[in-house]
Amino acid sequence: MPFFTQLTDCQAKMPQLLARYLPLPGHNELAKAMHYACLNGGKRLRPLLALMTAELFETDVAVLEPVIVAIEFIHCYSLLHDDLPAMDNDDMRRGKPTCHKVFGEATAILAGDALLTLAFEILSHPEHFPTLDKSTILKIIQVIAYAAGCQGMVKGQSIDLSAEGKTLSLENLIEMHRAKTGALIAASVQCGALAGQKATQDDLYELHNFAEALGLCFQIQDDILDAEGNKEILGKQTGQDVKNQKCTFVTLLGNLEAKKHAKTWHDKAQTCLDRFGDKAASLRALTTYIFERAT
Ligand code: IPE
Ligand code: IPE
Ligand code: MG
Ligand code: MG
Ligand code: MG
Repeated sequence: MPFFTQLTDCQAKMPQLLARYLPLPGHNELAKAMHYACLNGGKRLRPLLALMTAELFETDVAVLEPVIVAIEFIHCYSLLHDDLPAMDNDDMRRGKPTCHKVFGEATAILAGDALLTLAFEILSHPEHFPTLDKSTILKIIQVIAYAAGCQGMVKGQSIDLSAEGKTLSLENLIEMHRAKTGALIAASVQCGALAGQKATQDDLYELHNFAEALGLCFQIQDDILDAEGNKEILGKQTGQDVKNQKCTFVTLLGNLEAKKHAKTWHDKAQTCLDRFGDKAASLRALTTYIFERAT
């Protein structure tokens, strides 16, 4: 299937899939906020990454459905909290007012909490994984929890906030990006591989290197788009990083140097895929898309 068909197919299917696992909205503000945070667009790159990695091992994609739902719920929660006044104080996300602008801060915080918790509830139901060994399910839960928490995304977000108004060394900036964005991207890839129950330790290792490089390329591109992207296409405000005195690849090194770094990590990610030959064609196309994206 051509790359853009895979991308649009995933984007078209995800809302329905996510909605199947969400509480019914009814008149419940919390459930409405959860729907709003998850079903309002989004590129769905983490689910696609997991699905394409699973393809390497000829895995039945149905097995991954609850996993990609859980990962996307965690990603949506991370965005929802990231936009809060206490964090980046953003009023636009995915082309619409941010969740707290619509539902108020308290409900937005709780919707984030609920999405994170729901993700792990979904993963803990063995009946969602009729073909997986219990040990594989546990490993998937562990990988996602590690990536989401104080050794992954939450740690990265904490460094991001404490670095406001400061200058990080390049090494520490890379560490921050690895944690805040790279970790969940790496978990998506690992889970895609684990779900097939066929990947060797060497496969997992090389895929981890791939995902780490891709995660860095992804966040550097996000930094570049904040500086020179188009607000309408991005669906979020630009210029926020300077406004919030963030330390990013652009604020630290300038646009040109940031682009060189994005290219270096893009190339590294592509090289890591060599091991998988032609089977990695979709992942290669996704890697190029992430590097070249304008949204
Ligand atoms: C935005 O992620 C936040 C970062 C981690 C840089 P995405 O660019 O994947 O956001 P959506 O899901 O497409 O809105
Ligand atoms: C956010 O990074 C990373 C997350 C873990 C959500 P940013 O703060 O740069 O993401 P945007 O630019 O608001 O989407
Ligand atoms: Mg942020
Ligand atoms: Mg932000
Ligand atoms: Mg950003």
